[in-house]
Amino acid sequence: MKILLTVDDLRPDERASVIERAVFLRSQLDEGHAIESAAGGFTVGNVFFEASTRTQLSFDLAAQHLGARVLNLNLPSSSTSKGESLRDTVETVSAIGVDVLVARHTDHGSLQAIHEWTKRPVINAGEGAHAHPTQALLDAVTLVRHFGAVEGLSIGIIGDVAHSRVAASLCRLLPKLGAQVFQIGPPDFLSDEIDVEQVSDLGSVLGSLDVAYLLRVQRERGAEITDSYIDAYQMNGERFRSLGGNAVVMHPGPVNRGVEVTTEVLDEARCLVLEQVANGVPTRMAVMEWVLSA
Ligand code: NCD
Repeated sequence: MKILLTVDDLRPDERASVIERAVFLRSQLDEGHAIESAAGGFTVGNVFFEASTRTQLSFDLAAQHLGARVLNLNLPSSSTSKGESLRDTVETVSAIGVDVLVARHTDHGSLQAIHEWTKRPVINAGEGAHAHPTQALLDAVTLVRHFGAVEGLSIGIIGDVAHSRVAASLCRLLPKLGAQVFQIGPPDFLSDEIDVEQVSDLGSVLGSLDVAYLLRVQRERGAEITDSYIDAYQMNGERFRSLGGNAVVMHPGPVNRGVEVTTEVLDEARCLVLEQVANGVPTRMAVMEWVLSA
């Protein structure tokens, strides 16, 4: 039985085929073709114990494109508000009859526990500050579609790296695909546990980046937004113009406009934020096909 807790759960050949399949599925969706998939007739349970807009909706639509049935746990109106435990909740969803669980939770370790309790394949849709593998994969798909390949790109992950599960997953995936990756921010936003070069002077690398990947400051995980942070790291019009002429701006969303990035930059054609969102659907289709394959 397959499980996607981190990007390392995919072998290199599986990683390459998921990305390639997602690029293909994106063009099929864009051209309005019917999707042919070996993974028809299954039921997905979306169990999100943390807020989500794009991840939950795109998993939902991805499953529908594959011909699956989807159950979405609505956390505020579920029995968790009556004190039902995580274990009882997921065992209940599983007993209702799902073949795969897509789960998001604040605590590292909870997704492995969900897998063990339910004996079902589990796809990590965001686990604490630890990992968000499908976000990293959809970002790789976005880079492949835009640049043709990830190999050789210089990518700066800018902002609250230490609290970001997106950064953790990107910094595991992108170097394996041949990119040079930097974590960029004030010292208290960088992480020694993340094995990519640390840079605190954003201006010193701006002109050499192919990708400026901004992160939201994770206030819910204890980080603070300060004026000095905004002064030194916000992607504003001036910094955007210091990037190379072919460089792009990315962000996993949700964006805090005026904090890590300005509206002026978000409106630029070389800002790929909504392209990333659109690639979430075919990427999650490819991941569900992989998790359900023999
Ligand atoms: C991210 C997340 O939830 O980790 N959002 C997403 O899934 N696109 C990033 C964030 O919350 O800042």
